[in-house]
Amino acid sequence: MRADPYARSGRRWAEGAELVYRPIAAELVAASPHPLAGRIVLDVGAGTGAASAALSAHHARTLAVDLSAAMLAWHASARPPCAVADVLALPLAAGSVDDSVAAFVLNHLTDPESGFFELGRVTRPGGVILATAFSNDSRSQARDTIDSLAKSAGWQPPGWYVELKVAAAPILGSREGMAAAASAAGLSGICAQERPVDVGVTEPAQLVRYRLGHPAFAEWLEEIGASRAGAFAAEAEQAIGGMPPYRPVVIFLSALRP
Ligand SMILES: C[S@@+](CC[C@H](N)C(=O)[O-])C[C@H]1O[C@@H](n2cnc3c(N)ncnc32)[C@H](O)[C@@H]1O
Repeated sequence: MRADPYARSGRRWAEGAELVYRPIAAELVAASPHPLAGRIVLDVGAGTGAASAALSAHHARTLAVDLSAAMLAWHASARPPCAVADVLALPLAAGSVDDSVAAFVLNHLTDPESGFFELGRVTRPGGVILATAFSNDSRSQARDTIDSLAKSAGWQPPGWYVELKVAAAPILGSREGMAAAASAAGLSGICAQERPVDVGVTEPAQLVRYRLGHPAFAEWLEEIGASRAGAFAAEAEQAIGGMPPYRPVVIFLSALRP
């Protein structure tokens, strides 16, 4: 079995990466074509619970699933019931949930249509399937500054991350790609949009916290230790200087289970 790339990242994801992922999850859940209150909604690739929190705010009855036990363990007692499982083989009967949410998880797959197909299997007819991925055209100079500074300081992007960026993420990184994968899985009522999101990240310190919350940095940050990691973060903030508000471009999908 492959090692879990998110195994060391519960805290950093929840306290760093979620600065960006939470507001996007809120927009995704708000895009549901029908109210989610009282409905059983699957949050697949739930991570530390960004979309589950948005679903709770809409009074949905949420079930969370993720391949990473470490991500699900974050504040587990305050979160919806969960199970470790692969989106490609969900331990759920056909039509057992009302709706499904897949926030930034299908972009980990080299055959995302199989992920959509499995979500279609477990979702009741008429249910909505909501998904997000970053656009292939999402760019940020400030974010690039953090990465290049980290490389100069000894960070090497891990192999799994390079593979993800090259072989999987681009497939859903456009409206056309997202819509084509959902359509190939037999979903209907497909609406794919591409737009920048105001995530409220306006300060270099927030952007650095977000970026270093990504699991691609986890091993390196642990290797260099807390004190050097703190010094690196301060250096990165200074290198960014001023920045425009961070507005990642996101592909939003809403589709129905026929
Ligand atoms: C980018 S994070 C997104 C987490 C959360 N949805 C959010 O928006 O903050 C991707 C999550 O998907 C999980 N994941 C990756 N591949 C998966 C798969 N095949 N099945 C289930 N979960 C998977 C990872 O463990 C990780 O927690």
